Amino acid sequence: MKLTAREFVEMKGQRPIAMLTAYTCPVARALERAGIPVILVGDTVGMVEMGFDSTRDVTIEHMEYHVGAVRRGAPKTHIIGDLPYRTDRDPATALACARRLLDAGADSIKLEGAKLDVIAHLVQQQIPVVGHTGLTPQTATSFAKVGRSDSEAQRIREESLAIEAAGAFMLVLEHIPYDLATEITAGLAIPTVGIGAGPDCDGQVLVTNDALGLGDYWPPFSKQYAHLSQSILDVAKDFAGEVESREFPNNIIPFARAGGR
Ligand code: KIV
Repeated sequence: MKLTAREFVEMKGQRPIAMLTAYTCPVARALERAGIPVILVGDTVGMVEMGFDSTRDVTIEHMEYHVGAVRRGAPKTHIIGDLPYRTDRDPATALACARRLLDAGADSIKLEGAKLDVIAHLVQQQIPVVGHTGLTPQTATSFAKVGRSDSEAQRIREESLAIEAAGAFMLVLEHIPYDLATEITAGLAIPTVGIGAGPDCDGQVLVTNDALGLGDYWPPFSKQYAHLSQSILDVAKDFAGEVESREFPNNIIPFARAGGR
């Protein structure tokens, strides 16, 4: 059963929220089967799937494509669509782009930073909004932890309160000191979902490719539950070896063939 923005707010203090990213239909299908209550189609797609150096290269067309694929894989799961770089530069542009992601299948929209007029405008149009503060990769000059100095910590505190006041129903806190995330979480009525923000957030989000061990680099605050890059390499080598030795396709296991597509 798809959860609503209100139900996520009601989960605060009751049940931790487990959020994962997805960009493709088969991954979304697996996440829904696993009972993940909320999937983020993040603009991290640009870096972990498309090979760009930054999320700034992601376009609204890319996001529509990926939101659509994820919706087809997870028809019963709440999906957050991420507004890519500069598509939230003013309220009118953000509304037009948010509607494109909703039409593609998103249930709510995430945007980075304290763009309070944009958040308020979307909420006024009945669009559920997820805020995002701390490290905001679309505008960051490095991926270092933010909020270590008193002034930066104060800015993030104030932004969090302002994002809630503007109407967001959830807030992603990325790569900030754990005690700052604890304090912000305690001071908000909406749930916080942390990534590299310690154990006291109301939920945790991981980039699924990091959790699967896909790729060559994973942020230090992520966890690899599997090592799929290694598995792909092993499968590719096995396949090539079997083609060369003419073992394949003579050794296809009948069950696998019957159970396949
Ligand atoms: O784009 C994304 O996947 C994100 C997560 C890292 C929170 O914003």
